[in-house]
Amino acid sequence: MFCLPREEILSQNGLALKDWIRELFENEDLLRMGHCQRLEDLNLGLGWLYYALGRILRPSKIVVIGSYRGFVPLMFGRALADNSEGGEVCFIDPSFVDDFWKSSAAVDKFFADAGITNIRHVLMTTQEFVESEEYRTLGKVGIIFIDGYHSEEQARFDYEAFQDKLSPEGITLFHDSVRVRTSKI
Ligand SMILES: C[S@@+](CC[C@H](N)C(=O)[O-])C[C@H]1O[C@@H](n2cnc3c(N)ncnc32)[C@H](O)[C@@H]1O
Repeated sequence: MFCLPREEILSQNGLALKDWIRELFENEDLLRMGHCQRLEDLNLGLGWLYYALGRILRPSKIVVIGSYRGFVPLMFGRALADNSEGGEVCFIDPSFVDDFWKSSAAVDKFFADAGITNIRHVLMTTQEFVESEEYRTLGKVGIIFIDGYHSEEQARFDYEAFQDKLSPEGITLFHDSVRVRTSKI
């Protein structure tokens, strides 16, 4: 068996996962939004599932539609980085909740500060994105995560927009889709 020394693994992939989670959770917003995260034991909650799917399926492209403060794009971004095979998270969000995603420089810095550089944010609705050149040339997508505007119509639009782009072994996930609740956002 061939084992890399611990230091070498860390220098290839940034902080070890536990230290990375500790730093992420210094931002309280990354403990919110219904992914069952928990600070006390550095528990990513559903983030483990997102991370694991990225590691198991090893897609070269993941699409995330909607995120309040980037928790899901970060989980997938870290998974692709740890796969060491390249790949990219295409994150679609028009910043309808507040101005957080409005400045591309601030968005790039936000993700880079978390050690993740493979997330490409698109400041658009899905409706706008499907009209773009980027959509036409997107290629096959291995994971689609739908968490945009929470109406049945929009979730259907988001799903159908990427059906033909989904690779044969690909999967689509819908957040906030199990219980009916009134959103405060
Ligand atoms: C409710 S938040 C997602 C909260 C979430 N559970 C999380 O983990 O962050 C929904 C996001 O979807 C975005 N959004 C709203 N309408 C959209 C659309 N038509 N296309 C893409 N994103 C949209 C909003 O800007 C917002 O950031």
